[in-house]
Amino acid sequence: MRIAVLASGNGSNFAAIADYFQKESVAAEIAFVFSDKKNAFVLERAQKIGVATFQFSPQDFPSKNDYEKALLALMQQEKIDLIVLAGYMRIIGPQLLAAFPKKIINIHPSLLPAFPGLNGIKDAYDYGVKVTGVTVHYIDAGVDTGPIIAQVPVLILDDDLASLEAKIHQAEHQLYPAVLKQIVQGQQ
Ligand code: GRF
Repeated sequence: MRIAVLASGNGSNFAAIADYFQKESVAAEIAFVFSDKKNAFVLERAQKIGVATFQFSPQDFPSKNDYEKALLALMQQEKIDLIVLAGYMRIIGPQLLAAFPKKIINIHPSLLPAFPGLNGIKDAYDYGVKVTGVTVHYIDAGVDTGPIIAQVPVLILDDDLASLEAKIHQAEHQLYPAVLKQIVQGQQ
C-alpha cells in the first residue's frame, strides 16, 4: 500500500508514523510527504529520513480548483492508495474526495463530535471538560465530520494548556500509527 502524508506544519505525527513503519512490519510505505506550506518543518523531517517531498500552494495556481486538480494528478501519478492528513490545514476538495472514497483519513485532537475546528485542544481546555482525547476519522465534505475509526480519551487533571497539549500529542503519536496498521491489514 502506498501512502501519501499531507501536512502543513510541524509534522510530529508524520515522524511518529515513519518511525513506527520502520520498526514494525507494516505492509505499506510512505511514498511521499506533501505540504501546502513552503517552510513547513515536516518537509525537513521527511528529507532527513529520505522520504520524498512535494510542495505547492493554492497561490501557485489560478484557482483553488486547479490546485486540487494538481494534487489529484500527483496522487494518481504516484499511485497512492491512502491519503493520511497529519496537520493539513485545508479542506479536501470534492475532486480528491470523489477519487479517494474512504481512502482519506485525518487525526483530530479532541473526542469528536466535540470540539471540531482549528483549536480542538484549547477549546476543550477552555470549556473545562475533564476528559478530552484524540479521534482518527475518514474525511467527508464537512469539517471534522467523517465516520470515526478510532478514539482514545485523555484525562484533564491538574493540567495547564501546555501539559494538555503534550498529552494529546503523545496520544496521537500512539493512536495514528496503530490505526494505520489496522487499515493496511484490512481491519478497518
Ligand atoms: C495535530 O494535533 C493533529 O491532531 C492536528 O494537527 C496537529 C498536527 O501536529 N490535525 P503535527 O504537525 O503532526 O505535529
